[in-house]
Amino acid sequence: MADSAPVVELHEVFKTYPDAQRERSVLCGVSAAFERGEYAAILGRSGSGKSTLLNLLGGIDLPTKGAICFQGRNVSKLNEQRRTLFRRKHIGFVFQFFNLIPTLTVFENLMLCLDLNGIDRKTGRARVEELLDQLELLDRADSFPDRLSGGEQQRVAVARAIAHRPSLVLADEPTGNLDRETERVVLSLLRDMPQYENTTLIAATHSPEVATHADRVLQLREGVLADAGQ
Ligand SMILES: Nc1ncnc2c1ncn2[C@@H]1O[C@H](COP(=O)(O)OP(=O)(O)OP(=O)(O)O)[C@@H](O)[C@H]1O
Ligand SMILES: [Mg+2]
Repeated sequence: MADSAPVVELHEVFKTYPDAQRERSVLCGVSAAFERGEYAAILGRSGSGKSTLLNLLGGIDLPTKGAICFQGRNVSKLNEQRRTLFRRKHIGFVFQFFNLIPTLTVFENLMLCLDLNGIDRKTGRARVEELLDQLELLDRADSFPDRLSGGEQQRVAVARAIAHRPSLVLADEPTGNLDRETERVVLSLLRDMPQYENTTLIAATHSPEVATHADRVLQLREGVLADAGQ
């Protein structure tokens, strides 16, 4: 069960992008709190701002206005270097377009994140092998990302996001390229984290399957995030 202190909170967050003629407001005062061990799904039409919201939650981008607090600390106020260190340690990010490092093999892509977190190589190797096995990717360990299918790259991206056991996993359409059976494998891995590792999972998705298993479903519409009920 989730305990009561929020892991991450948004306070009246606004995000505006410069556009050709005028500014484009994507988030218009979003407030929300996510608790430890919670699995929240964020639904919204294409272009509604789901990726924008996850990027802000993960400290990849900064809000135009408002605050994002991680375990009570305003991360939007950290400088670039501190934000990078914070991200590396606490956040796992499954990018919508994977963002795997093309010059590293699957195995190296996964090891890198553990190396950066100071995990010794032996423990790291075992963890990477365990994840590759769970995601049915062991035979692709030495392949480079551009040799993999979209669904295989997506599974590597999921493995990389959770390898270092972060306290917050942000998953942007984590099953967008998978068939139903593979979707189930990936989902059960992601879904188990809140239960067993006390990880908070926030997934942006179009998939009803991803949303069905969430503790809470939120809807992003016209720049505002609201409870969508179950
Ligand atoms: N860096 C940027 N500069 C300018 N506009 C941007 C930028 N990033 C996103 N946008 C705009 O913000 C809006 C929201 O984009 P976002 O990628 O967050 O939507 P989304 O809900 O994730 O969509 P999808 O479901 O298609 O992935 C879009 O209209 C997009 O064009
Ligand atoms: Mg998106």
